[in-house]
Amino acid sequence: MKLEAVRAEAWDLEDVEAVVVGLTERSGPEPALPRSLGPDDQKVGGYLKRAVARGEIRGKRGELHVVPLPGLDRRLIVAGLGPDRSLDAEELRRVAGSVVRQARGRRLRSLAFRLPLFTQGRVDPADAASAMAEGCRLALYEFTRFKPTETPGTVERVVLALGPEQGRLLARVRGNLETAGKLSEAVVWARDIGNLPANVASPAFLAEQARAMGKEFGLKVTVYDEQQLAEMGCGGLLAVGGGSSTHPPRMVVVEYPGQGGARSRTVGVVGKGITFDSGGISIKPAIHMSDMKFDKSGAVAVLGILRAAAALKVRPRVIGVLCCAENVPSGSSYRPGDVVRTFGGKTIEVLNTDAEGRVALSDGLSWLNATHHPDIIIDLATLTGACVTALGFDSAGLFATDDGLARALLASGEATGERLWRMPLKPVHHEMVRSDVADVKNSLEAPLAGAITAAAFLHTFVGDTPWAHLDIAGTAYVGSGAARFAPSYASSGFVGFGIRLLADYLKGL
Ligand code: BES
Ligand code: ZN
Ligand code: ZN
Repeated sequence: MKLEAVRAEAWDLEDVEAVVVGLTERSGPEPALPRSLGPDDQKVGGYLKRAVARGEIRGKRGELHVVPLPGLDRRLIVAGLGPDRSLDAEELRRVAGSVVRQARGRRLRSLAFRLPLFTQGRVDPADAASAMAEGCRLALYEFTRFKPTETPGTVERVVLALGPEQGRLLARVRGNLETAGKLSEAVVWARDIGNLPANVASPAFLAEQARAMGKEFGLKVTVYDEQQLAEMGCGGLLAVGGGSSTHPPRMVVVEYPGQGGARSRTVGVVGKGITFDSGGISIKPAIHMSDMKFDKSGAVAVLGILRAAAALKVRPRVIGVLCCAENVPSGSSYRPGDVVRTFGGKTIEVLNTDAEGRVALSDGLSWLNATHHPDIIIDLATLTGACVTALGFDSAGLFATDDGLARALLASGEATGERLWRMPLKPVHHEMVRSDVADVKNSLEAPLAGAITAAAFLHTFVGDTPWAHLDIAGTAYVGSGAARFAPSYASSGFVGFGIRLLADYLKGL
């Protein structure tokens, strides 16, 4: 899809099949069409004014009307923006996503948005442009690896028409479109990996994808196989991956050198890469178990983050670490009651083999901290069902040892629509994961503060380094339960949650 910004008015563009306008929610006993839609209303012979007056078009969030222009192969699309006061970049991302999906369904190939009608003096036009560009590109994504698309043909061209009102912002808008294009590219590339099932996307496969990406972007990639992990003392990752006879574990390290020279900061980004989480010996119930192919989402997001960092040439150095293993039951699986020694010597008492993410991450976190001395560590993991119970699908859980880091991540969450909700992390939670026979235990006997105690467990492995943990269990993929609540641009399956978020955070450093 080609995305462009022009100074012209949308209606002056000869070759677009639809002009898209935004309408905020009409209220009151006599709803009226805003004057700014006058030119559009003229094109459809006053239909808009009448339709608004009789309540047929209301501008409600999610509302879309497609009005054919009399005698012409052109349409006017009216997109409801919801109440004035709640309009923000994320709303525009969603609106743009719904519009292109609708357009694709109608086999339209080109659209022009009248940008000033979408910003409404409330959203910065350049921010609006980024958001709408992302919304369009991400909403058109389909996972077609195993089945051709059901809607052949797609929207090939989207124009943001600034008109005389916003024409002077053209250069800024174009700059943002370029960034949005690179970001969306990283996300859809990651979606194609994240959506793959476990019989294809094994730990070794993820390592290969990292290598291929490293080659393309000039990034250093190191892969540690099971022998090397044993030599390094990574007993956590080895324990989790030990049950799989076909897909042994890997630790994958991707390094982006940064643009800031010796003085720039180093950010470590660690991802949970469980290519399939059956629960292991503590096996999960059958229902929804197939969703556990998405238990690698943190690691795939890390790949996307490194790709975005390289494409956008962000200043800080970024080290990505993927902790990849398949968690399945067999004669060689780790067992409840086992005690394993992780990189650096800390020991874990395994009480539940289904709490494997934290065990796999322990090695990646402590290895990264000891070998690269990062200034900041951020991990992403589909870590706990408890986080989904607490927050649902709207926000990921944020746990942080540093308030500044938490604030920056929350701000990036608001800017990108990849929202976070900060959760507490207190000394008592560390006490809760203390084990009688090892440094920590991986599960409690009772279902208490499940997301928080998982975070407390991870904290054990990052020392004093400022650290944030994102529990993305509810936001990483859109399963059948979440489809109704997912944003238009999320597509079902792997979302790529965390890529735009962390790219925004890294850009700001
Ligand atoms: N991968 C799961 C967490 C998960 C659940 C992700 C639902 C996405 C959707 C994780 O490994 C797990 O099984 N956690 C257990 C921990 C428990 C055994 C302490 C959980 O949340 O039930
Ligand atoms: Zn599990
Ligand atoms: Zn898991």
